[in-house]
Formats: sequence, structure tokens, C-alpha cells
Amino acid sequence: MQAGATTQGLSDKSVVSPPPSAPQSPQCIGVPREVFPGEKRVATVPEVVEKLIKLGFKVAVESGAGELANCSDESYRAAGAEVLGTAAALWAAADIVFKVRGPTPDEVALMHEGQTLISFIWPAQNPDLMQLLAARKVNVLAIDALPRTLSRAQKMDALTSQAGVAGYRAVIEAANAFGRFFSGQITAAGKVPPAKVFIAGAGVAGLAAIGTAASLGAIVRANDTRAEVADQVVSLGGEFVKVDYVEEGSGGGGYAKVMSEGFQQAQRAMYAKQAKDVDIIITTALIPGKPAPKLITAEMVQSMKPGSVIVDMAAEQGGNCELTEPGQAVVRHGVTIVGYTDLVSRLARQSSTLYGTNLFRLTEELCKTKDGIVNVNMEDEAIRGLTVIKEGNITWPPPAPKVAPAPPAAAKPAAPVAKKGKGHGEPSAPMPAGKLVIMFAVVAALFWLIGNSAPKEFMSHFTVFVLACFVGYMVVWNVKPALHTPLMSVTNAISSIIAIGALVQISPLMDAAERPNSLITWIAAVAIALTAINMFGGFAVTQRMLAMFRK
Ligand code: NAI
Repeated sequence: MQAGATTQGLSDKSVVSPPPSAPQSPQCIGVPREVFPGEKRVATVPEVVEKLIKLGFKVAVESGAGELANCSDESYRAAGAEVLGTAAALWAAADIVFKVRGPTPDEVALMHEGQTLISFIWPAQNPDLMQLLAARKVNVLAIDALPRTLSRAQKMDALTSQAGVAGYRAVIEAANAFGRFFSGQITAAGKVPPAKVFIAGAGVAGLAAIGTAASLGAIVRANDTRAEVADQVVSLGGEFVKVDYVEEGSGGGGYAKVMSEGFQQAQRAMYAKQAKDVDIIITTALIPGKPAPKLITAEMVQSMKPGSVIVDMAAEQGGNCELTEPGQAVVRHGVTIVGYTDLVSRLARQSSTLYGTNLFRLTEELCKTKDGIVNVNMEDEAIRGLTVIKEGNITWPPPAPKVAPAPPAAAKPAAPVAKKGKGHGEPSAPMPAGKLVIMFAVVAALFWLIGNSAPKEFMSHFTVFVLACFVGYMVVWNVKPALHTPLMSVTNAISSIIAIGALVQISPLMDAAERPNSLITWIAAVAIALTAINMFGGFAVTQRMLAMFRK
């Protein structure tokens, strides 16, 4: 903390502190109120304040900093933070400042030498801000510059946590603007079909949107230029729609690249088809450092059904839809086009909690000694990656990582392995033709041997057995795993039909001489009654289970 700073509400001990270069007493983490218009988030929440204090830090919060995220000054005080009346007091008191948005020039002017700032900075897009900050001889950790490919960094990955919130909120905004249910329903007043949602771009925000829309009961389809996300789309309940054009879409590091003109044409044709069919389109397509690709043309909007909705998450980068107006919801050709750029802020409490937790995890990495003093260790790959200014020197961009992350195109080398067919545990690898022929020859020889030597009665049973195996295999293997429970239930019901045998045994039509004694008849009757429950109940349960999957 700067000596002699204005520190309303902070103790005297914390006002007169040693120079920042050699801090002895615990450092103060300051959380100012966000000044960007419409920003409702706050960089930490009371639950996280308690954890920061346990790490040995003091925490100061500007009065009203959490107001728009439903965190009162009182709740911060109760968590152990000091609440300071003005921004000037806060910036002067803090050794480390936690912020959401990058600082304005006025805020930079409040910074003092040796102070550490942790916030979104986007150094590539904000060179002037970088120069201003460097001139103040401060340390700056840009949370957006965190190397996301390091698995250790996931807990600090604010880009991911915030994009997840945005994807969820995009679906909620779509549902709000859409005049129907998402899930299909059969009501006394008539049948309602499920909404069809198409998601363009299946990155972090896109995947969150797929999961949310599917959980609301919509039919969800998605497309991305990176084919490797197809499995993730399916696992979240969506269907991956391919573009009829073969081109690798990965630009490395988990990001996309600009696609060829041929691919774009094929993609436009597919998107035009989807636009006519679906009710809601959510676009999230982005290529880092480039304007958002234009995927939804004015003609596609015109072709959509009246009352349809487009949520363009890439509005801030120019939009994926030609008719998007950033920051607004407009109606064009009867279609509502939502171009809000503050989706994360619209869930301020949730996003602040996640962001605050990301910063807490980062603080743990910066303060392994748990003594309330941060150490910006440039030897640590994650810390090095996000440190964009160290003691007034611009350290961005960081050097290339020592161990290059496995390229997502790793799927390519995997193909030859499958072709060799060496792995026993590779069910998806097709069996080579030669091996298949040998297998068939062996099985045929085996059957010929059995047919020649076994008795006649055995052969008829054996034929039924083989056919039953074949039919069973075809039935079970063609059923989706999600439907295995109703399948078991219906096979259970069918197997109960053997009760017909017992019925025949006790039937009055049976020859009197062959009829069993009365005790056995009664036992058989009870057995038939119990089996009937299994049989009719089994069919009923199967119907109910299947109804859950029907849309
Ligand atoms: P991301 O980089 O993880 O995902 C973008 C996805 O788009 C990638 O999977 C990429 O392969 C795909 N893509 C790129 N070009 C494509 C094309 N031509 N066709 C199909 N897919 C393509 O980004 P993230 O974090 O998921 O964010 C998505 C978008 O949402 C970004 O534009 C981001 O700025 C925006 N965003 C908007 C917010 C708001 O309030 N409006 C808040 C948070 C994020």
C-alpha cells in the first residue's frame, strides 16, 4: 500500500506500510466499483472475500461495488472486508487491485508504483492502455492472456467461466423473445411441437447454449468448423450438422481459422437450409483477432418463420448476422435479432461468483506461502503467460510455450493406427477384408462339422439358437444406449408370454388324463396371475419410458 494514501475506514497500521518492493505485512486486495457503463459485475463476492482473508490478505471494497450483483456493503463487511467510501481511497489503499473490465485512463491515474492489477486487459487490442499502465510502473496480470491449454490453468480460466454464463443467458434471452414453449407438449388444448434451435459455433459459449436449450426440451442442432467438437455437441444432447465440404477447420490452440471460399459457400447453403427449418438461431462463431464471420445473411433472416429469434453473441465483434445491431434487440422481417453485448452482466451475481473464484484460484497460485504476499513468479508458465506488464516493463506477448500443446489435429495421426488394426481395444477400427474372409471360412467349417456329426433334433434347436442370437444382436446393437432401459423392460414383458405354456397346461381343453392334480393347477394359476403383472406392467412401463424420449 502507498504510504500516506487516503484510506477511509482502514486501520492506521495498514496506512503506514513498508515500501511495496519489500512488503512484510499482509497485502491489501482492493475491489473498486466497475465504471464501464452497464457493467453490473464485481471482481469478488463476500464468499470469496472470506477465502482471501484465510490466505492471509486484507480485503478492501469500494462502497457500492457489489450493489448491482446483489452484494451489499454489509455482506462484504460481514465477510471481513473493509468498505471504503471512494474510488481514490480504494486505489490508494490496495496493493493488488481486482477488476473485471480493464481500467479507464482515470483509473490508471489513480495507480501507484509497485501496485498489481488483475483484470481483463486484451493487450493486443489495447496498446494505448498498455503504454499508460507501463508508465505507472505497475504489474499487470491480464486474465484473458492465461494459457488456456494448460490443464492446471482451468480453475483460473475466466474466459471459459464467463462464456459459459453468456451461452446460458443467450438461450434465456431467446426463450424470452420466442412466443412458444421449448419442449414439445401434448395438452388437452392440442399438441405443441418442440422448438428447433440451431447453434452456430460450438466453442465454450456454444456448448453451454446447446446444453441449456437441450435441457429445456428443444431439438438442438449445431455446427462448427472444428470437426473435433462433434462428440461434445452430441454428448450435450445436440446433433452435429456437417458442412458438405472437406476442410480442416482448426487453427491450433483450440481456435478456428478463416475457411476457404469453397467451404464458406457450402456452409452458407447448409445454414440457409437450417434457417428455413429452425425457430431459433444462436450464433457464437469467432476467430480470435478477426472480425466475426458473417454466417447469417439478410435473405436467410427473411426465409425464417415469423416469430423466430436470432441471438447473435458475436455482436461485439461485428456480428455473425448481417442484420444485427450491437447492444440492441431489433425485429427484421418478423424475426427478433438480439445483439446484446452484456449477456454475462445480465447474470451479474452468477458471473461475479465464478469470476471471483477464478481470481481466488489465481491468488492461491501467486501466494503459495499463504502469508498474504503475492509473488509474481515468471518461471511459472501460467503466471508468465498472463503477466503482461512486470514492474513497468511490457512482457507481452509471452515466449512460445516450452512444450507445445497437443494440436487438436491429432485425430489425423490416429487414423493410421486404426488402419493397422493392431489394437484389440479399438472397436471402431474396421476389420481388414482378409481377416473377415478367414473368420467366415472358419465359422462355415465349424457349422459344416456340426451339421455332419450332430443328431437331427439337435440341429433344429441349434438353428433356432443361432437365429435367436442373430436377431438379438441386430436388435440390441441398433438401439441407442439411452433406450436400453425401455428395451430391457419390453424384453422382460415379452419373456413373460411363456405364461401361455402354463395356461395350456391347466386349460379345460386339455385331455382329462393328462391334466395335473388340483394343487398344481392352483399353483399354475397363481403363477399366471403374477406373470401377467410382469407382462402387462412391462409393456405399460415401456410405453411410459418411450414417451419421455418422444418429442
Ligand atoms: P470460442 O472461441 O470458444 O468459440 C467460437 C467458436 O466458433 C469456435 O468453436 C470456432 O471453431 C467457431 N467458429 C469460428 N468460425 C466459424 C464458422 N465460420 N462457422 C462455424 N463455427 C465457427 O468463443 P466463446 O468463448 O465460445 O465465445 C463465443 C462468442 O461469444 C464470441 O464472439 C464471444 O466474444 C462472444 N461472447 C459474447 C458475450 C456477450 O455478452 N454478447 C459474452 C461472452 C462471449
